[in-house]
Amino acid sequence: MMKYNLPRQVSRLDLKPIIEREIKKQEIAVMTLTKKQQEELNTIVEVIEAKGLPEYLIRRKLPHNLGHGIFLHPGKDPLPRGRLIVPYSGEKEIVPAEYEGGHYAFTPLEKIYLSREEQAFLDPTIAYKARRSYTLKVDALQRGNFARFVNHSSTPNIEARLCRVPKNSFGLRASPIEVIYFVSKRILPGQQLLVCYEGEENCYWNEEGIKPFPMTPSTFQLSSDLKIISEK
Ligand SMILES: C[S@@+](CC[C@H](N)C(=O)[O-])C[C@H]1O[C@@H](n2cnc3c(N)ncnc32)[C@H](O)[C@@H]1O
Repeated sequence: MMKYNLPRQVSRLDLKPIIEREIKKQEIAVMTLTKKQQEELNTIVEVIEAKGLPEYLIRRKLPHNLGHGIFLHPGKDPLPRGRLIVPYSGEKEIVPAEYEGGHYAFTPLEKIYLSREEQAFLDPTIAYKARRSYTLKVDALQRGNFARFVNHSSTPNIEARLCRVPKNSFGLRASPIEVIYFVSKRILPGQQLLVCYEGEENCYWNEEGIKPFPMTPSTFQLSSDLKIISEK
């Protein structure tokens, strides 16, 4: 059983009214999950609760100090484009925009302005300032699921989509915004799952102050005995 087995994002406070307002105000494109996607989401949520990682995926440590990565099991079927893989889970918070993202944080909403009451509720230790901007973060540093082990590539096979989980018959908690990883390019057995960390703001690697290691889905692959092999 893996340590990271939080199926979906969690939040200490009720952020729903602010998030719903901001999605409308900023005209953020949020895709409502279809019935089939709700079913796929429900399945992966149950697997994460039971064992952390589905059987068709393998987590392995990479060379070059890259930490771990997630691979498609070499004995399983390819993953078609459009397949729902996993929600990016973690602790969801609205924090001052100047806070650094951190290595495991996702920022679904980059700029939020709060009312006096909302600032007092979310950021009570500081005096109200109408122009202070906030961001919505989902941070998987302490708690999360295997999505936190998906590495970065500029030629990814996974894309992060902003989704709405509607009221549904699967018992899934409804949510106005959830970051969900989908297959964007067919994934072959043994390949690594990779997503591009840079959104419109292109700031992940600037904040890190390093250049990412150039990886494609086949730079490292899993052999049939589940060992890492490097592309020649
Ligand atoms: C969300 S984590 C990904 C999982 C990470 N490998 C681990 O084992 O925890 C993000 C961190 O992984 C590393 N990383 C991911 N993709 C990388 C890449 N293409 N080049 C260099 N480091 C990468 C960086 O340290 C980055 O801050």
